Amino acid sequence: MMIILGIESSCDETAAALVTGDRQVLAHRLLGQEAAHAPFGGVVPEIAARAHVEALEPLIVAALADAKLTLADVDAIAATAGPGLIGGVMVGLVTGKALAHAAGKPLIAVNHLEGHALSPRLSDPDLEFPYLLLLVSGGHCQLLLVEGVGAYRRLATTIDDAAGEAFDKTAKLLGLGFPGGPAVERAAALGNPKAVPLPRPLKGSAEPHFSFAGLKSAVARVVGQYSPEDLAASFQAAVVDCLIDRTTKALRTAHGATALVVAGGVAANTSVRGALQTLASAHGLRFVAPPLWLCTDNAAMIAWAGAERFAAGLTDPLDVAARPRWPL
Ligand code: KG4
Ligand code: ZN
Repeated sequence: MMIILGIESSCDETAAALVTGDRQVLAHRLLGQEAAHAPFGGVVPEIAARAHVEALEPLIVAALADAKLTLADVDAIAATAGPGLIGGVMVGLVTGKALAHAAGKPLIAVNHLEGHALSPRLSDPDLEFPYLLLLVSGGHCQLLLVEGVGAYRRLATTIDDAAGEAFDKTAKLLGLGFPGGPAVERAAALGNPKAVPLPRPLKGSAEPHFSFAGLKSAVARVVGQYSPEDLAASFQAAVVDCLIDRTTKALRTAHGATALVVAGGVAANTSVRGALQTLASAHGLRFVAPPLWLCTDNAAMIAWAGAERFAAGLTDPLDVAARPRWPL
């Protein structure tokens, strides 16, 4: 059975995982850097890159030990090659290249977004192409028709902030700390989602895209006038409304989609998942959401994307470049 080592280091999680071609996660190790970045209220690229240098090698050693494997047992090495914070991406990619070279294994340069996009197929063996994917993370908010490995049709993207970015900025405004998404969700559970009138940017618009900057600005204007709990609940309800409106529109053009799928860090949000589940049912579609640990950044999704690419005969030369920007 094919075994892929996956490496992830594009943002503030350092991770290594071993995944098989038949969807067994043999090991997955992850080290978050929240504590290092929390004093700054956001991810500091230089601190992130240095932390990846320190954390990565021990994590790879630990993952191999967990799986009772050595590098010799691995069929290929998949590393995130972008998009992301370039210092961190280079740490992971160069490490992947060095291991591939030393062990004489093929290298697979994985687009981090492809990792998120294919991750639902790791947790759900029945998920077939094509599917409509809502990819909602800290850096991205997109609707993609996933037609096959390497075949992604982008139907919509954000014209300003990503959904997770909006959660993080709102958390900062409300003094809820970092990372913001889970903190806003916890506060929202204690608040009234109808308490604060907030805009739904681009809702009902003829264009397919997302926008969240105006929503964050609207929160900024009324901070202090409402409780953080009511603000968090109202903000979260507005985000969910926008996501559902744009996804509903995309469903009209996503011909042949077998399922509605959500991935990325914001897919960990219970309200987001619940609303999408309802939307899928209303359209007679299956709803697929990976388990929470597979939604936020991790290396199993990179290893799995590597497994899918490797099975399709796709490998990369050792001089492949790290790319800070890399649209799918
Ligand atoms: O996919 P991810 O781990 O990293 C990126 O590739 O960006 O996503 C991280 C984002 C952050 O903005 C975080 O605040 C958000 O996902 N997030 C959430 C939740 N958990 C993580 N947003 C809303 N509710 C959550 N429970
Ligand atoms: Zn991500």
